[in-house]
Order: sequence, then C-alpha cells, then structure tokens
Amino acid sequence: MTRAEKFWDRIADSYDQTEDRFETLHVQAMEHTKKHLQAGHVVLDYGCATGGKAFELAGHVQHIQGIDISSNMIAGAQRNAAARNIQNVTFAQATLFDERYADESFDVVMAFNILHVLPDARQALRRIAELLKPGGLFISTTPCLREKQALASRLQLSVYLALIVVRLVPNILTRFTFADVDALFAGGSLQVIETRVFYHQVSSYFVVAQKIQGTENLAHNAH
Ligand SMILES: C[S@@+](CC[C@H](N)C(=O)[O-])C[C@H]1O[C@@H](n2cnc3c(N)ncnc32)[C@H](O)[C@@H]1O
Repeated sequence: MTRAEKFWDRIADSYDQTEDRFETLHVQAMEHTKKHLQAGHVVLDYGCATGGKAFELAGHVQHIQGIDISSNMIAGAQRNAAARNIQNVTFAQATLFDERYADESFDVVMAFNILHVLPDARQALRRIAELLKPGGLFISTTPCLREKQALASRLQLSVYLALIVVRLVPNILTRFTFADVDALFAGGSLQVIETRVFYHQVSSYFVVAQKIQGTENLAHNAH
C-alpha cells in the first residue's frame, strides 16, 4: 500500500464531515456539471471518495461508476449507496489503469478535486482521454492553491506543508495556478470548452473538456 493510499484510508471515516465546509463550492460544481449530463450517459467518477457527488448526479444519467484508490473510501461509498437505495451507481477500489475499464467506454469522466493530489496529472488526463468515447466529456474541479485563498486556508496549507517536511503526511499536493491547469491540456486530445472560477475560502477551477473526435493517437503522443 502506498503512503497516499494509507493517507486517504485514514481520513475516510471523517471525510463527509470535513467536506461540509466546502458546501458552497460543491453546489456550484454540481449545478454546472448537471448542464452537461444526459439521461443515456455512462459516467466514470474518478476519485469518488464516499460517493457524495455521484449520488447527487445519479438521477441525471444512466450509470455512474465511482473509483477510488482508498478501500475505506469505497467501503463508505458502498454503505452510503445502500442507505440511499441508489441503484445506478457502483463503486470499486481501482485506478484509471484498471483493466476492467476499456478504452472508449465512457461518455463522461468526472474528476472533482483530484488532479492536485496526483503524482502525474498529465498522465491521468491521457488515460482519461483513452477511456472517453470520441466526443465524450471530461468535467473537473481543481483547487488552485497558488490562487486567492482565505487566511484560514493558507494557515491550514502551511500546517500541511510543515507536516510533509517531518514526513507525517505524504507529499501529494501540487499547488496549481489556473494557467497551470490549462497547460495540462495542451497538445492532448481533450479540448477545453468551458472554464469557471468558484471561490469560497479557496479558488476552485471548473474545467470541461471534450475529446476531439478521431484524434485518439494524440492522447498517446502528448507528453
Ligand atoms: C480530495 S478527495 C476528492 C473526493 C471527491 N471527488 C470530492 O470532490 O469530494 C480526492 C480523492 O481521490 C482519491 N485518489 C487519490 N489518488 C487517486 C488515484 N491515483 N486513483 C484513484 N483515486 C485517487 C482519494 O482517495 C480521495 O478519495
């Protein structure tokens, strides 16, 4: 088990409570995501945690597959799904590279608040491009920790960075600007079609990109 996996497993039980403070950002992300969803869509929720966003969007699509590296997050998501009796959302502990997921099998891949905790966000985007059907949509929010932040969030970030130094938490954070996130898409086969900035304590960058039809190879060639 990697240090990142252990970290997410450790915070899984309290995840829903700690996320409540970002409710305003959540509401905006969901509102703008719903505009892109259709009843027939098959969706991948990458880094689904305990499933909150998938449950909220389930009524707008055919099926959502939630995946997460943390087995404790997935256990929580499965408990929550059973409690809500939601049938069209399934969960698995998996990465994007799991062989259960075939190329061109999803209409939409969602990645809420995950690109900034990946060791290689560009590699993830290349795989997401492969998983999407031509014309499919990538919908994401990314906290941009080099943009405007409230004092309390800056202090919290400083504490996290100090804990990295003493190796109490893994070094998984990338501190993006909005331009850094834009740059992740350069040269790939996902074309950005919408961006928005949400702000509540931290700056959150909402990006929708579409897989360009007939350019699958670009996804492999992009660096
Ligand atoms: C900040 S949380 C965001 C969760 C959820 N999408 C949301 O917006 O509330 C990041 C999630 O990504 C998961 N994660 C981190 N790295 C991952 C990876 N390589 N593959 C799949 N999931 C990952 C973590 O376990 C965690 O549940």
